[in-house]
Amino acid sequence: MKKKEVVLSGIRATGKLHLGNYLGAMKFFAQLSQDDSKECFFFIANLHTLTTKTDPDDIKRDLKEIVLDYISIGIDPSIATIFAQSSVPETCELTWLLGCLTPVADLERMPHFKDKKDKKEALGEIVNSGLLTYPVLMAADILGPRANLVPVGEDQHPHVELARELARRFNTIYGETFPIPELLSGEAVRVPGLDGSGKMGKSDYNTIDLSDSPETVIKKISKAVTDPARQRRNDPGDPSVCNIYALHMLISSGQELAQVLEGCRTADIGCMNCKEILSKNIVNILSPIQQKRAELVDKGLDFPLEILNDGGERARKIIAETVEEVKDKMGVPMY
Ligand code: TRP
Ligand code: SF4
Repeated sequence: MKKKEVVLSGIRATGKLHLGNYLGAMKFFAQLSQDDSKECFFFIANLHTLTTKTDPDDIKRDLKEIVLDYISIGIDPSIATIFAQSSVPETCELTWLLGCLTPVADLERMPHFKDKKDKKEALGEIVNSGLLTYPVLMAADILGPRANLVPVGEDQHPHVELARELARRFNTIYGETFPIPELLSGEAVRVPGLDGSGKMGKSDYNTIDLSDSPETVIKKISKAVTDPARQRRNDPGDPSVCNIYALHMLISSGQELAQVLEGCRTADIGCMNCKEILSKNIVNILSPIQQKRAELVDKGLDFPLEILNDGGERARKIIAETVEEVKDKMGVPMY
């Protein structure tokens, strides 16, 4: 039997998941997990969360929420492995080992680090070293299970590039050990925010949460920014500058989408009507997810923990084996 390709991706546990997470990545995770030729690992990067969040109760709560989200969007935990980063202590060991092969200058150049550093400094907060070594931990996440494919959004590409470099460097120095992980971004899309900003999730006010009720969806969409030049009902609009249309393109399809495009340009449909169609389609996406989630919640508070125990055990077995081999090759086995 041909060896399955290993797919790995993580998500940081920071608050509620939104439509941007779903359309941008998670929907794609679910598709990958249903592909027989792939062995999928999806984890919650709760150690990465510590670089920006400190409330233990929050971190624990968000973790469980994300487990339910993963399953309710269609990842089957009996097929894919869902686990918490903190369940695999060997990943931290690997972070140290890989850190010894990582130039500090490469870390200081990372856009994510520069951005966070500026923000922390502006607030007068400490720039913790976890922010700097964040990409090394991420490389350990990827190389630990010897992942071949890493589906992530654009903002994470420099981090995956570092993981590739570290894999190559390790293989050159110590002999063939890691496959070079490939980015899998074909399906990753940027989901615009409701406030006209480039990305959903940049602020709390521009998102549709996966848990939003139909009423909330309708309310949020009705308030969202549209083509600013379309002031009156009879003005024709320009869908190419309207974030509602950008959302339509991700969510609506066929005739309906064509009608919105044409109707906006000719002032045949008004923004209210256009938004109603979008809201209806968003609600149609969210309802089955919410229904599945409600069923999972009914299973009780222990359910997400059972998933994590099971997934953690599976992931740890595989990762621990890699780390043992790496330590041995580097001359620092456990005596
Ligand atoms: N840093 C990623 C993010 O913020 C999450 C992450 C951590 C990750 N480790 C990873 C993604 C390994 C893919 C592979 O989205
Ligand atoms: Fe945007 Fe739709 Fe209004 Fe056109 S009709 S400006 S696409 S909200």
